[in-house]
Amino acid sequence: MEALEPVAARHGMVVSSEPRASAAGVEMLREGGNAVDAAVATGFALAVTYPFAGNIGGGGFMLIRKADGSAAVVDYREEAPAAATRNMYLNAQGEVIPGASTVGALSVGVPGTVAGLALAEQKYGRLSLARTMAPAIQLAENGFPVSYWLSEDLRAHQSLLTKFADSRRIFLRDGNFYQPGEVLRQPELARTLREIARFGPGAFYGGDVARDIVRTETKLGGIIALADLAQYRAKVRKPLMGSFRGYTILSVPPPSSGGTVLIEMLNILDPLNLGSPDSYDSMHLIVEAMRRAFADRAAYMGDTDFVRVPIQGMINPQYAATLREQILRSKPDAPVAAGRPGEYESSNTTHFSVVDANGDAVSNTYTLNNGYGSGITVRGAGFLLNDEMDDFTSKPGSPNMFGLIQSSANAIGPHKRPLSAMTPTIVLKNGRVRLVLGSPGGPTIINTVLEVLLDALVYKMDIVRAVAEPRFHDQWAPDTLFLERQGFSADTVEKLQQAGYNISFRRSIGECEAIEVDVKSGWRFGASDPRGHGQAAGY
Ligand code: DON
Repeated sequence: MEALEPVAARHGMVVSSEPRASAAGVEMLREGGNAVDAAVATGFALAVTYPFAGNIGGGGFMLIRKADGSAAVVDYREEAPAAATRNMYLNAQGEVIPGASTVGALSVGVPGTVAGLALAEQKYGRLSLARTMAPAIQLAENGFPVSYWLSEDLRAHQSLLTKFADSRRIFLRDGNFYQPGEVLRQPELARTLREIARFGPGAFYGGDVARDIVRTETKLGGIIALADLAQYRAKVRKPLMGSFRGYTILSVPPPSSGGTVLIEMLNILDPLNLGSPDSYDSMHLIVEAMRRAFADRAAYMGDTDFVRVPIQGMINPQYAATLREQILRSKPDAPVAAGRPGEYESSNTTHFSVVDANGDAVSNTYTLNNGYGSGITVRGAGFLLNDEMDDFTSKPGSPNMFGLIQSSANAIGPHKRPLSAMTPTIVLKNGRVRLVLGSPGGPTIINTVLEVLLDALVYKMDIVRAVAEPRFHDQWAPDTLFLERQGFSADTVEKLQQAGYNISFRRSIGECEAIEVDVKSGWRFGASDPRGHGQAAGY
C-alpha cells in the first residue's frame, strides 16, 4: 500500500503489484536498459513472486510507445487448442457444465506469455532475454520471504490449489502453509526459467517444458497438444487510437475489448459537463456510457482474426454522438440495447507500467484469468496454467465467471483467442507520454481505466488521488451498478437508487498501477493502488 503521495523519480519508474518485481525492472533501467527491458524483467519476476496472476502459463497484452512516436501492441493472449470446439463446455442438455471452463485441464488456453515477452525483448529491448530474466531466476532459485499478503492469499485459495498435487506441494506445502517471513523457493520454476533464458522461447514451446505441459494436461483430461504449443506465436498489432479533450489515447485492439470499449466511452463523455467527481450527475452520465459500450461489446466483439467486428464504427465519434443523444433523451437506467455502429473493419490479472529515462513507455497487463488460474501446476516445470478459456462464450446468453454475456462472435474455435477486457493504456499530450496505466479485474478493468483517466484528465487530480478515488462499475448485464462500499456519499447512493439503478456494493474494484509524467519538468510520478500491495519504484 502506497502513501497518499506519489513516488517521484527523475529518470525512470516501474509500478507493479509486487515490490521485488518493480525492483527487477528498475535494476534494468539503471543498467541502461529501456522500458521494454524493464517490463520484461518485471513480467518474469512477477511469475515468481506473484503467483496469483504473474505468470509464464498465461497471457496478456503489452502496449509499447517509443519516444520517437512509434507504438505497437504485442498480443500474447492465450489461444484455444486445435481440438477445442464451440460447445465443449455444454452437457448433453446443452447447459453449461459448472467449472469446466474455470478449473482444471479443459479450462487452459495455450499460454502466450513466454512468446510475448521474448518477442518484445528481441524486437524492442536493448539488453538480452538472459539479462532481463536474471532477477526472476534468482528469486525462484534462492527464494524470497513470503509477505503477510501472499501468505494470506495462498491460504485463501487452498480449495483450488489443493485439487492439484503439484500446486498443493509448491504453494501450500501440502497443508503446512507458508507463514509470513518464511522463504518460498521454486527450484522447478528456476530450471524452467533458466532453459528459456538460455535457449529462448523455443525451450518453452518445444522440448522438455512443452512435453511437461502436455503430459500434465493429458493426465488431467486436457486437450492441449505439442502441435498447439509449437504453432503459438505472439502477434504485433497496431494500437487503437482515440482522442479525448486534447489528449491522445493509445490502447489495445482485439482480441481485447479494452481499448475499443474505453475509447467508445470516452467519445460519449468528451463534450459533456461531468460536474464534480462521485456526484450523482457525473456518475449517471458515466454509467450510461458504460452500459452502452458494454452492450456493444456483448453483441459484436470477438477475435478479429476470425470474426468481423465493427471496431472503427464503435470508436467513431459520430457514433458516440448518437449514443450521447440517446442518454440525454432517456430516463436514467432505461433499458439499453446494443447500438448500430457503422463501418465494418476488415478484418485475476496484473498490470505494470514503465517509463524510462528516454521517455519510452510500456503498459502491460497479463493474467492467468482468475487468481491462480486453472489451479494446475505443470509437473516438473513448476508454473501455474491459466483458465482463460472461460473468457470465450461457452453459450450465448449464459454469463461467464465475470457475469459477462457474450455473442457467437466470441464462440470457441481452434486457435482463436478469447475476448479480453485487459486495457493497458498510454495517454499522450502533444506527442509526449503523460499517463501510463492499467488494472486487473475482468470487465471492471475497462471502467477502472476510464475512471482513473477521468479523475486525472477532467478533475485534474494527481495520480495517487486519481488511483485512490472510489470506483463504480456497470457492464450492462447484469443490470446492476456496482459501487465500492467505502467512499460514496449516502446522498449520491440514494439519488442513484431513486433514479432506478440497482445498486450492489463490492469491497473493492480494480488495482491500478499508474505513472504520470509531468510533461514540463519531465519528473515521473508513480502510484500503486492502495487496494493492492504493490510498489512504485524509480531512480
Ligand atoms: O482477459 C480478461 O478480460 C480476463 N481474463 C481478466 C481476468 C482478470 O482481470 C481477473 N482479475 N481480477
